[in-house]
Amino acid sequence: LGQTIYYEETVPSTQKLAHQYAQNGAPEGTLVIADEQTEGRGRLMRNWHSSKRTGIWMSLILKPQLPPQRAPQFTLIAAVAVVQAIEEVWDLHPEIKWPNDILLNGKKVTGILTELQAESDKINSIIIGMGTNVNQTIEDFPQELHSIATSLAIEKGQMIPRSRLVQKILEKLELYYEIYMKEGFSPIKLLWEGYAISIGKEITARTITGEIKGKALGINDDGVLRIQDHSGHIHEVYSADIEVNEP
Ligand code: BTN
Repeated sequence: LGQTIYYEETVPSTQKLAHQYAQNGAPEGTLVIADEQTEGRGRLMRNWHSSKRTGIWMSLILKPQLPPQRAPQFTLIAAVAVVQAIEEVWDLHPEIKWPNDILLNGKKVTGILTELQAESDKINSIIIGMGTNVNQTIEDFPQELHSIATSLAIEKGQMIPRSRLVQKILEKLELYYEIYMKEGFSPIKLLWEGYAISIGKEITARTITGEIKGKALGINDDGVLRIQDHSGHIHEVYSADIEVNEP
């Protein structure tokens, strides 16, 4: 992965660019990376704050020969890769909040956005966007993010070179992508559940249709979160914001 790299100083969004490259036949493993994004995109149509040279803003193009329903699993592959990269390079111990948030001390350090270009029943390209806050101080974040965002530098107490981490994330992604294509989702799922904060805990999931409170049982093979409510009913949640309830 990362054999072809497009690096730009400032772009609207690496995700948007990667979609264009993918459409124009960019090979598997193409990486789009920028120092600054002016229109960084998050999940659920949110903005992603991406200030200059303080973070890793990148999007990776993969072209697995798989049905489109498998695409959400790539968010979990990427999450495991980023967590392990941060652990190995900086000896920090992030946790994963389903589906795509990587947290340090309960605050978000990385967000992952997986998008798809598909033709009928086949994936054409998967675009995995990964945004990691690296050298921001708390003042670099807008006020409304102060209680929910952090950076590696804040947690580690020192400035951090970005290149080693980019390299490590790609190395880990390559490893787990290969394992996934050979052995399927179960080894990834096991690793992912080991890092997940919510599994086995009482949570509240806010979906577009309402709130579900209950125990997070785990994820199924589609990466869908299974929650058992207090009447015993099991809900399968595809998209939500979750919060771990205080005991
Ligand atoms: C989220 O947590 O909502 C996902 C955030 C994903 C942000 C990354 S930064 C690189 C890539 N380009 C974008 O515009 N978004 C993703």
